[in-house]
Amino acid sequence: MRNKKKILNDYKKKVKYLIEQNKLYYIKDNPKISDQKYDNIKKKVLELEKKFSFLKNQSSISKVVGAPPSNKFKKIKHLRPMLSLSNAFEKNDMEDFLKKIKNFLNLSDINIDLFCEPKIDGISATLIYENGILTKGLSRGDGVIGEDILENLKTISSIPKKIKSDKVPKLIEIRCEIFIGKKDFKKISKKFANPRNAAGGSLRQKDPKETSKIPLKYFAYGFGAVEPMIFKEQLEFLKKIGDWGFSTNPLVKKVNGINEIEKRHSEIDILRSSLEYDIDGLVYKVNELNLQKRLGNTSNSPRWAIAYKFSAEKAVTKIKDIIIQVGRTGAITPVAKVEPVTVGGVVVSNATLHNEDEIERKDIRIGDTVKIQRAGDVIPQVLTVDLSKRNKNSKKFIFPSQCLCGALTKKEISKSTQKKDAVRRCLKGYDCKFTAREKLKHIVSKEAFNIDGLGKKVIDQFYDLKIIVEPSDIFKLDYEKIKQLDGWGSLSISNLRNAISKSKNVSLNKFIYSIGIRHIGQENAKILAKFFVSINEFSKLFENKNRENLLKNLIDLDGIGETQIEAINTFFSNDKNIEITKKLINQLDILNYSIIYSKGKFLNKRLMFTGGFQNMSRSEAKSLAENNGGKVLGSISKKLDILVVGDSKPTKKKIEQAKDLKIKIINETEWNQILNS
Ligand code: IVH
Repeated sequence: MRNKKKILNDYKKKVKYLIEQNKLYYIKDNPKISDQKYDNIKKKVLELEKKFSFLKNQSSISKVVGAPPSNKFKKIKHLRPMLSLSNAFEKNDMEDFLKKIKNFLNLSDINIDLFCEPKIDGISATLIYENGILTKGLSRGDGVIGEDILENLKTISSIPKKIKSDKVPKLIEIRCEIFIGKKDFKKISKKFANPRNAAGGSLRQKDPKETSKIPLKYFAYGFGAVEPMIFKEQLEFLKKIGDWGFSTNPLVKKVNGINEIEKRHSEIDILRSSLEYDIDGLVYKVNELNLQKRLGNTSNSPRWAIAYKFSAEKAVTKIKDIIIQVGRTGAITPVAKVEPVTVGGVVVSNATLHNEDEIERKDIRIGDTVKIQRAGDVIPQVLTVDLSKRNKNSKKFIFPSQCLCGALTKKEISKSTQKKDAVRRCLKGYDCKFTAREKLKHIVSKEAFNIDGLGKKVIDQFYDLKIIVEPSDIFKLDYEKIKQLDGWGSLSISNLRNAISKSKNVSLNKFIYSIGIRHIGQENAKILAKFFVSINEFSKLFENKNRENLLKNLIDLDGIGETQIEAINTFFSNDKNIEITKKLINQLDILNYSIIYSKGKFLNKRLMFTGGFQNMSRSEAKSLAENNGGKVLGSISKKLDILVVGDSKPTKKKIEQAKDLKIKIINETEWNQILNS
């Protein structure tokens, strides 16, 4: 009997140890033991389980450990995408926001009501209620596909499991932000860098019991799907769900016009440090829901809302050295190595100096005392130099003219603006090992192929060992060779293999973003994917003869301008880029872009607009066409189905061309009739 107790204790101790190591590995990304040691202990535990049947009554180790976080939760597609918000940092940005709304809605002088809410710095989640009962709870994931974290969310006692009202829509999705209060965080601050990480870590625990140990709270701020729709205003919505038992933020307010926006901003900024939770700004939303609907979304964020951030935290320190870094587009960025200083709770020892012109303009030198600032997730930057503290012997900083690879760097002249770039660049692309490594890091990053296990350090190591030299190598890894390297055991190899194999199925937008064309971020990649739909169509850009014509059509896409078109042209004018991209395509399964519209008044029709409209802006007309399943083209061709002619100053030549090609032409009245039908 004593022996049995000893075995059980030994078994429990080992399991506890493995769980601890798991946390370090998966959640904190900071393993403390080698994979071999981990595998050995796990093997022993499994042997014990096999040998002593009484251990089976314990929760089996195979269920507790070993699953990487990305596989931990079931993936579920959101009913409506969970978008992000665009940011405003100063009064000007807010004035722009108001102007854009007015232009889009074709309003002249009327100021529309905005609803202002604190922007909670936590983790977003969505709660789905069917007939008033909480049936699903998802994390944001990548905004399109979330993770099923219902059981973990259910441990938050203030989240209603059942809505007590007979007026609840059949289906309602409540969007909320989960957070840890400042006081509660203090109790666990040794384990996490900040409250936000702690909330994220807790929500993503495999075992909901672990989640319940950390006191999570939430504020509900919005909705996703609602059927039938019963709300007319954001203010009314929040009030109603507050009555239903959801926790909503008390510091909300309706405002109108820039002066009230600014006033509210300073009022809450003053309160900020006394609040029990972290906020990083205020969200301003168009209050009326039918106006929100008309404004719609760009590919990533709603046009009807914006996050107005509070000004960043600042600190004073000293520059120890200035080094240069090479980015994935060959950009040479000077970085100040500073004496470590705490800014907004985080220790900073590097700050960006942006570019050569910035150093010149501010005359920044090694040894200078400087003010630095850190805003949100953005890299800290050097703001000003305190000249009174400058050492008399200090020398001007001479910016190196060569890249770290030895090649001469250049400041390019933009073809579209004829302006000289402020940034020096190494133009060697994949032939510069510093640029190449950064391109590879971009490809494996979370927003691109999202390959767990191929972090920045691993890419550097694999590049130096020539295991990965270009993107396609990622999918042809020599695992035998990797096995010989320090720190790689069977567990980490099998995790890497799985992560890579999973990432082979990639959507067209992620693929376009991943290949790293300058000026093509996630949003532009989505716009391009929506236009090209399939990799076959996108690949037509590789051929010189097609490219020019294709690029002409892009200019009319909302969000794509001359700069992006020039960048796409430059990228595909380089043979090496094409060769590398083709080799990568051969390794992948690239899924067609799929916002599949199954209905809509312009389903699968190609439209073009000329002239202005009385009651809506061109942007609203375009977005209406797209939301009705149509595609908007920028030039007249045989492919066009409908030319919509607005009353105000249409281009005669376009109408003639359309007539010649026997394309259907509709006027503004007909356009309105179709939309209202
Ligand atoms: S409204 C984008 N309101 O901020 C859809 N978001 O950057 C409309 N957040 O994912 C979002 N407090 O997780 C909204 N009062 C608030 C918010 C809030 C925090 C988060 C939310 C969202 C992120 C957008």
